[in-house]
Amino acid sequence: MLDVRHLNAFYGDVQVLHDINLTVKAGEIVGLVGANAAGKSSLMFTMAGLRTSHQGDVLLDGVAINDLAAYERPAKGLVLVPERRRLFPFMTVLENLEIGAFSKDARAQARTTLEEVFALLPVLAERRKQLAGSMSGGEQQMLAIGRALMAKPRVLLLDEPTEGLAPIYVKLLFDLVVDLRAKGLTVMIVEQNVHHVLATADRAYVLENGHIVMEGEGKQLLNDDRLKKAYLGL
Ligand SMILES: Nc1ncnc2c1ncn2[C@@H]1O[C@H](COP(=O)(O)OP(=O)(O)OP(=O)(O)O)[C@@H](O)[C@H]1O
Ligand SMILES: [Mg+2]
Repeated sequence: MLDVRHLNAFYGDVQVLHDINLTVKAGEIVGLVGANAAGKSSLMFTMAGLRTSHQGDVLLDGVAINDLAAYERPAKGLVLVPERRRLFPFMTVLENLEIGAFSKDARAQARTTLEEVFALLPVLAERRKQLAGSMSGGEQQMLAIGRALMAKPRVLLLDEPTEGLAPIYVKLLFDLVVDLRAKGLTVMIVEQNVHHVLATADRAYVLENGHIVMEGEGKQLLNDDRLKKAYLGL
């Protein structure tokens, strides 16, 4: 469903991604793990169209989407929940959700989608009039995902959704990802919570200094000695 082919990305003269190749099949949960500054967010941003300085291809359903602007990609089904959530703190929960439905199709279905989002994330319904910035970190992450769902994604890209969250929310979040897949979504998830993501993901990639150095089934990587040493402190 989503393919990255021979992707190189740059900030000025500095290359941050080197010949990245990856595939996300329909209905999969795919993890991307790696240390700080490995290039995980740069890869997510590039797939979402928010970093333009790159070579190589991003394909959605086999079609290169390199020339689509970031704001055009959600209408094709590709939606990013960025690192640190990027909510509108002085707007209400409901207003943040409404902004998510910005493509023409999503807007036409917004009322129904909103009911679906409220059913999936009841905390957002309870707090619909609260200012986003006054919610707890975990609630804000649920709102960031709810806002992304308002865009009617087929593939959801999550960049460090559990960063800074209490353990109870970490568990809720991974349960939510599994629920979303059951509802037909495809999910790619960047995490430093390596144990959780490998236990949840069908497959995962390990990024080091802008290179993919390992890939495999989540559970198989979880038992890999090299990965255990580097990322799980075992
Ligand atoms: N806008 C930018 N301009 C210049 N360099 C950048 C920019 N954004 C990121 N970088 C650099 O690119 C490299 C990869 O950063 P990136 O944010 O993609 O890593 P990451 O794996 O997401 O890290 P983290 O786990 O801390 O979120 C880093 O060395 C970073 O300093
Ligand atoms: Mg990052």
